[in-house]
This record gives sequence, C-alpha cells and structure tokens, in this order.
Amino acid sequence: MNVPARSAASEDSVRWIGDETGLLEMIDQTLLPGSTTLIRCERVEEVWEAIRALRVRGAPAIGIAAAYGVCVAIRGEGSLADLLQRAVSAADYLATSRPTAVNLFWALDRMRSRIAEGSFADAPALRRALLDEARAIHDEDRQMCRAIGRHGAELFEDGFGVLTHCNAGGLATAEYGTALSAIFTAHDQGKRIHVWVDETRPLLQGARLTAWELMRHQVPCTLICDSMAAQVMREGRIQAVIVGADRITANGDVANKIGTYSVAVLAHHHGIPFYVAAPSSTFDLTLVSGEGIPIEQRAASEITEGFGRRTAPEGVAVYNPAFDVVPARLVTAIVTERGVIAPVSARRIASVIGDAIEIA
Ligand code: MRU
Repeated sequence: MNVPARSAASEDSVRWIGDETGLLEMIDQTLLPGSTTLIRCERVEEVWEAIRALRVRGAPAIGIAAAYGVCVAIRGEGSLADLLQRAVSAADYLATSRPTAVNLFWALDRMRSRIAEGSFADAPALRRALLDEARAIHDEDRQMCRAIGRHGAELFEDGFGVLTHCNAGGLATAEYGTALSAIFTAHDQGKRIHVWVDETRPLLQGARLTAWELMRHQVPCTLICDSMAAQVMREGRIQAVIVGADRITANGDVANKIGTYSVAVLAHHHGIPFYVAAPSSTFDLTLVSGEGIPIEQRAASEITEGFGRRTAPEGVAVYNPAFDVVPARLVTAIVTERGVIAPVSARRIASVIGDAIEIA
C-alpha cells in the first residue's frame, strides 16, 4: 500500500507504526530520488517482496526490515500456538528473500532465539516480546552507525577527496549509514571532504541514493560513472576510498556491491587507502574466506532494460552478479563500532569482533 510521503528531512528507511498489532512502513528506495514514497506492509509477503525488489536495501536495513517482518506475520488474530508457528515460518520465509547480506540472517536468528526463549503468557505477550526484539535490533544499528562514524572520521584529513561506491548511508541502515556516517561525521567536524560518487551500475544506488543523501547533508560531491574512477584517481583527486559491506568473513574478505572489487584494485594500484565500514552484524565468522559467500544473481532485465528502457538487443546473454568479493589483502582497514581493525587479519578480527556475534 502506498501512502503520502512524510517529511523528506528524514532518512529513516524503515519504521514501525503503532503498537504490536501495527505495521511496517518504509521508503520505497526504487523510486528515489524522483519521489519519496512510503509503502506500508501489513502482510509478511509484502515485506519479502520489498526486500527482494530492493524497495528496502542495504545490509543492515534489510536485517531490520526482516525482523519487523516477523512482527508483521503475527499481527493478526490467533492462539499463542498459532502465532509461534507463524513467527517461525515467517523467519524461514524472509531468509529466502536475498542471499548475500549476512545481516538478514543475523537479525532473523535473533528473532528465532527470542521465540525459542518461550515463556510467553499469551499471544499479546509474544507480539510484544518480538516487537521489542525488532526495535532493539533497530536501535542498536542506529548506535553502531554513530560509533562507526566517530571512528571512521578520524581516517579523513581536511581537504580529502573520498570515493565511495553503492549506498552505505542512512537509507541502507537504521540511520546515518556506515561509510557515509564516517563522511557525515568528518563533515560535521568541519573537515572539508569532497566525495566522488560512483554511479554504481546497473541499479545506480550511488547516483540515485548516495548523491541524494550527500546533497541533503550539504556535503560537496561529484557523481562519476563507475568506469571513470581510475582516471579520477590518476588525476590525484582521491585520497581515500570508503565503502560498506554485505558480509565480511573471518579472514577479512569483504562482499559488497558489484564493482567494489574493481575500485579496491584501482585504489591499490594508485596507493590509495581502501576502507570498509561495517557493524559487527555484517561479520560472518562461520566462513573462513570470501569463497564461501553466496553471490546473488539478479534478473537480466536490470542490465538490458534498466529503469524501463531497453538498451541491449532482445535475447542477448547476460550475467548479473549483484555483489563481488574484495580480498582482505586489498583492504587497508575495517571500521566497526568497536574501533578500526588494521591491518586486516583473522586474528585481529577475532579479537575485536569475536565475542560480538554468535559463531555456529
Ligand atoms: O543490492 P543492495 O543495494 O542492497 O547492495 C547494498 C550494498 O552493497 C551496500 O554497500 C552494503 O549493503 C552496505 S550498506 C551499509
């Protein structure tokens, strides 16, 4: 269901409306920057579709949306036993929406653990407990983003040109973002930062979302096509790269939006530091390296007729992986809410993040 937009001053990508029988509201990110349209999800199938279609996107934001999605699944009538069963099925179902960002599975595991704790007096008590858990996931992400911003801002000096890829801003998280949080914080501290925004083919998260967020925060920025990054680096305009992440493995390999690997290789070639900003919920210490990360494959039409206009011949073969993996050796540092991990190694990751997340 579409509803009129609330104030465009807010970048909350997701929010819960009402009490435990309420509903989930989110900005339809596929329509930005042209229109700030809100959608309301009253059925778990609508939440699944919103995640799958990238109406809500970005690793932390899809975890938050999925957690609320479990609450959406039990907002209707039913006995306690019915709702418990519905909540578990909803968690399993939402986990099939997208494969790469581990935050989705991390958030759903938290909801499952809350369900498994049991001891609910009745159906309203279950609804309240699960909404509290989803709200806690949401609030913790907000705090983690702020802390990432504080640590990340220290990496930037006054006058830096900083390149970013995809969107790791407020839209992709509870608030403020990860990579963009570092940039916003440095900007708020009075450092003059100029951001070079990769447009991020094929779905243009950089052009549509990152440029929109930066301009609203009045951070100076310049949009470039992805293929221009090498030239801009050679011209000496970039002093640092910072990106978000969808999954970071135990050895420090980083999955992020397709094209991130190319940027990391370019940064290495030009001697430019390559930073990754991510909360502990983005780490998957069950995987030893990036080879184990499932890479989402998306529809050919995103490339052949993106945004409704056909730009390739009918019937052409298409390969459309949505993510790639940057090997740890190309990552200068990982900025987390707990501090900066540098150099990037399995040992340092385990010591900073090991106790923050459950290892199966
Ligand atoms: O396919 P998307 O738009 O969900 O991909 C998002 C990204 O790759 C982001 O860079 C990542 O999730 C980090 S968000 C803080």
